[in-house]
Amino acid sequence: KGLRVADKGFLNTAVIQSQITYIDGEAGGVRRGYPIEQLALHSSHLETAYLLIYGALPSAPQLKMFESEVLHHSMVHADAEDFFRSFRYDAHPMAILTSAFAYLGSYYSEANPSLQGQTLFTKGDKASLANMDKQIYRLIGKATTLAAMAYRVRQGRDFVTPPTGLSYTGQFLYQMDHLGQEDYRPSPVLEKALDVLFLLHADHELNASATTVLQTGSSLVDPYSAIAAGCASLYGPLHGGANEAVIRMLISIGSPDNVPAFLEAVKRREKVLSGFGHRVYKTSDPRSFIIRRTADEVFKVTGKDELLETAMALHDAAIKDEFFVSRRLAPNVDFCGLIYRAMGFPNDFFPVLFAVPRVVGWLAHWRQMMLQQGGVKIWRPRQIYVGPGKRDYVPVEKRE
Ligand code: CMC
Repeated sequence: KGLRVADKGFLNTAVIQSQITYIDGEAGGVRRGYPIEQLALHSSHLETAYLLIYGALPSAPQLKMFESEVLHHSMVHADAEDFFRSFRYDAHPMAILTSAFAYLGSYYSEANPSLQGQTLFTKGDKASLANMDKQIYRLIGKATTLAAMAYRVRQGRDFVTPPTGLSYTGQFLYQMDHLGQEDYRPSPVLEKALDVLFLLHADHELNASATTVLQTGSSLVDPYSAIAAGCASLYGPLHGGANEAVIRMLISIGSPDNVPAFLEAVKRREKVLSGFGHRVYKTSDPRSFIIRRTADEVFKVTGKDELLETAMALHDAAIKDEFFVSRRLAPNVDFCGLIYRAMGFPNDFFPVLFAVPRVVGWLAHWRQMMLQQGGVKIWRPRQIYVGPGKRDYVPVEKRE
């Protein structure tokens, strides 16, 4: 009662106070105050993860401890192999990963104390805070393993035990690509490039998937279930699925010659220009510049992707076209699919490469909500009911 206007798409609704990431649509973004460009240049994905989750850049011992906790939690139970093998050979890897996060939660009842009428976090109780952090290490540590298993099961390959002594992205690439060679090591250039891309994708404020994690987590469900919900939200083509959609779009365009006709179809609203537009950024997403630099590094090792010319022609035409200029539609991060393609990842794996690093941001938002002043309040929005008024039931034989 009293509600007259619905805020469709949450264009003007703030649901939480946050200290994690701030995006200024004109001037770029900061994480805990640090510009994303500086972090991409000087930090690593796990160091930035610590920053996002705990609010400050770690000291050297804190960083060592965090990296070691995350990497030590990369193993999954051997029974998980049967779970992965239960999927069809052509299952989308995001469907597998989403299910895998929920499945993982079934191993850790201590992450779900609300089922016993307790809360996961009690203010002033160090043990409950340590319990929460343990789930965080597990989720970040196992995300790469689950993703690699989703990749390998579709290829009919055996699974690889997470190796020791490698970086986060190094052990991920190892688990993906290892074919039994004793001395196999991923390319350091690709390992570093993936680390930069992971760092860029780690958090981006209250996007659809982070909101989903918080909405789900506000019922005090365990974080594995909340992350599974976030992963499902990310899967959609307007969000994390856009990097896969970009490649499909470029393949369908075929060559630079067909770009003008494609853009006309977009303007007639018959197509969407995937990889363009953002709810908050109204100029170029600053992450897209770092992606371009990373692409140059990767292409030196892998060679250029055949879709690059079409992508560049599309980009150059769209940024000058009145339709996109007047709507302030600029490139977002999703052209990084070209880098993933050059690195040999299949198209439908790209959203997974978004989800794995985004686990960090989801957990940072989730932890912040769990620890907020006054405890968690369940997220229960209102609606404006426009359906029929009260009426009497009609038996089936009397219905027209
Ligand atoms: N192609 C064609 N027209 C577009 C596009 C696009 N990519 N994006 C927005 N528009 C139009 C839209 O139709 C609207 O036109 P009009 O005012 O004439 O009705 C206008 O631009 C304003 O857009 P909007 O739909 O109000 O913007 P939004 O904030 O609701 O949506 C978006 C943001 C990202 C969902 C949208 O830009 C889009 O669909 N982009 C393509 C998919 C994509 O690349 N998604 C990845 C986003 S970044 C990474 C992530 O968060 O996952």
